[in-house]
Amino acid sequence: MRTPDYPSQDSDKWAQVDAWFSERLAPEEAGLQSALANNAGQGLPAHDVSALQGKMLAIFIQMSRAVRVLEIGTLGGYSTIWMAKALPPHGSITTIEFNAHHAEVASQNIEKAGLAERVTLHRGAALDILPTLDAPFDLIFIDADKVNNPLYLEWAIRLSKPGTVIIGDNTVRGGHIIDADSNDPNVTGLRKFVDMISEDERLEATAVQTVGEKGWDGFVIAIIKNH
Ligand code: DHB
Ligand code: MG
Repeated sequence: MRTPDYPSQDSDKWAQVDAWFSERLAPEEAGLQSALANNAGQGLPAHDVSALQGKMLAIFIQMSRAVRVLEIGTLGGYSTIWMAKALPPHGSITTIEFNAHHAEVASQNIEKAGLAERVTLHRGAALDILPTLDAPFDLIFIDADKVNNPLYLEWAIRLSKPGTVIIGDNTVRGGHIIDADSNDPNVTGLRKFVDMISEDERLEATAVQTVGEKGWDGFVIAIIKNH
């Protein structure tokens, strides 16, 4: 069980409801279970998406018929594994991790899940690696340092085509997203990210607030318009 990033007096109940749905709708296969165990054993922060959120990403991949997926921020590869499993056989994920230890653990987890052929893991700063990637991607999941979200958004758009789905994690942060006076660089980065999306005529977007095992947080989901 993850500890909630943004706890409240209802955290226990939210976690119980998450567990109830997860058991029924998003059971974790061996590769996912062993990734979480390995992450914990090797000291990675428990900032992975929840099982239900991983399944949501998997369903978005299937709904959008995504074949080429980009993930910015691998951590231990838990979300990577959910997404890789949802791809068609010729699909692929490019994922970028800055922290060398996290990347090493992710590489072990992806290998153990039998998905190494479908996943290309880049080690280093996303802003160095993004300019080297071949476009376009069909779905892009932004889940790295939130300070750089505005720059990651610019790159995501550059690496997109009409119909590309761009998803940002951790965009609610226990409600801190609406704090205009926040000094937290994560919050200011995410607020700018949302404002940029709002002002960009090429994008259509919404936000989904979530409660559950991770506490109160959420996603911004955008799509590049067709015309
Ligand atoms: C943090 C980062 C995440 O990607 C997440 O899902 C939860 C928390 C963090 O850095 O606090
Ligand atoms: Mg996250």
